[in-house]
Amino acid sequence: MRKRISVSDLMKYKSQGKKITALTAYSFYDAKIIDSTPLDMILVGDSLGMVFQGCSSTIPVTVDHIIYHSRIVVQSTSGPVIVADMPFGSFQISPEKAVENALRIVKESGCNAVKLEGGKNIIPAVEQIVGSGVPVYGHLGLTPQSINQFGSYALRAKHKEEAETLKEDALLLEKAGVSGIFLEKIPADLAGEVSRSLCVPTIGIGAGANCDGQVLVITDILGFDPELKFRFVRKYADLHSVIKNAVENYIKDVVSGTFPNDSESY
Ligand code: KIV
Repeated sequence: MRKRISVSDLMKYKSQGKKITALTAYSFYDAKIIDSTPLDMILVGDSLGMVFQGCSSTIPVTVDHIIYHSRIVVQSTSGPVIVADMPFGSFQISPEKAVENALRIVKESGCNAVKLEGGKNIIPAVEQIVGSGVPVYGHLGLTPQSINQFGSYALRAKHKEEAETLKEDALLLEKAGVSGIFLEKIPADLAGEVSRSLCVPTIGIGAGANCDGQVLVITDILGFDPELKFRFVRKYADLHSVIKNAVENYIKDVVSGTFPNDSESY
């Protein structure tokens, strides 16, 4: 059994020049298998709305969904830091409501930290949550909860003005007490510049190699979706074909009467 890594352990990695390795996970088997590896962090991302529930965005994900999946992931692991996403609508209403939801997520799931999408506008919420004793991660660049404002999941901050705002937001988040910042789908040079400007680590997804760590969505790297062709995703398996072949072979065996055989019967 691994000893659980802490958020402050991960903050030390940066000065040690050690990369943070992170993946999303949502359920018992993915979390348990990850726990048998040295991965540093599991993010129970609100991406679960898309890759677990099959929704077209992360918008419908609720605090209850996050608590349900985070609790399973916490109970299935002993090693990685568990970070839970604060879903859309759970931190925008007021800093007080944000703290209430963050405390609920941490108390009811046992996760170690929460993550909030956004910059300047969310600083009061971040300060209050950090002040309540809950470690917070920021999330800048492509923030999928803002899909209705952005209109697409395209690269962010490629123009100077948006890049400058992102750099300012990163510094504001650090000042507000975040333990790290996720940088999603922004130019690699910008991510490198932001990473060098901060004491806290950056964790990139589609943000190049100069971040202090990397995160990817577990179902993307395992190849569940043969259509998925994001430039920033490296597929390490083709589980779509593995599962499809297994199910087709099972059907064939049942239909032909070769399953179950004598050794599979009582
Ligand atoms: O919800 C999620 O999985 C995320 C990652 C893409 C960083 O926020």
